[in-house]
Amino acid sequence: MNLGDFREDYRRGELDRSGLDVNPLAQFETWFQQAAGERAQSRWRKIGIALYKLWSALGNHRPPDSNAMTLATVDQSGKPSTRTVLLKSADERGFIFYTNYDSRKGRELAENPHAALTFFWPELERQVSVAGTIAKLPAAESAAYFHSRPRGSQIGAWASPQSEVIPNRAMLEAKWRKLEKQFPQEVPLPPNWGGYILWPERMEFWQGRPSRLHDRFSYLRQADGTWKIERLAP
Ligand SMILES: Cc1cc2nc3c(=O)[nH]c(=O)nc-3n(C[C@H](O)[C@H](O)[C@H](O)COP(=O)(O)O)c2cc1C
Repeated sequence: MNLGDFREDYRRGELDRSGLDVNPLAQFETWFQQAAGERAQSRWRKIGIALYKLWSALGNHRPPDSNAMTLATVDQSGKPSTRTVLLKSADERGFIFYTNYDSRKGRELAENPHAALTFFWPELERQVSVAGTIAKLPAAESAAYFHSRPRGSQIGAWASPQSEVIPNRAMLEAKWRKLEKQFPQEVPLPPNWGGYILWPERMEFWQGRPSRLHDRFSYLRQADGTWKIERLAP
């Protein structure tokens, strides 16, 4: 397979130092809302977005999950692994996602709390990269989110020994049915399931530009809590 001719020329936007927020988490929120198409400021805009969503759903044109991010972790021997997870919230503490603490990523994060995330929003020709350290969310916060999930997913979290080798799918489905009977009412939070929060030390905003002269700005957290902003070569 040769993909040498697969290329796009990016021309949908530009990024300038003067347009950047001093706080990268605020900058992220602006970009995220644009990627998610939710900047509903006026009624007409809301109607426009609703029509766009309907058109997207009918025509299968929906952009990919804008909260999907690639999470990179590293094991004890320095070998990396990546996978997609969903961002479930972002605030001054950092970026929150949920998973199984016994999974490969969970084991790697227990060994090495340094991790990185990448968002790619092709419709906007934008990328955001984040690097920092990860900690578990308090169990009460994980429980609150867990109980907001559909019942089927809650049972799924109990049923799946994430990242372990299993003999077949039937075993997984049988386990799910057994657990469904075991928890006729509320499904408790599994002890090995919950949230992580990535506390950013470095963030980078990338806007595609023509001729590969893209705009890139890096934010580095300083000891006093402010951020140093620098333009990087593309
Ligand atoms: C779009 C998308 C979203 C996903 N979101 C999550 C998530 O939020 N949490 C999670 O544990 N796995 C999620 N997964 C599955 C992971 O990519 C991965 O298969 C799983 O977490 C096991 O990874 P690990 O073996 O590296 O720990 C998602 C996969 C895709 C494609």
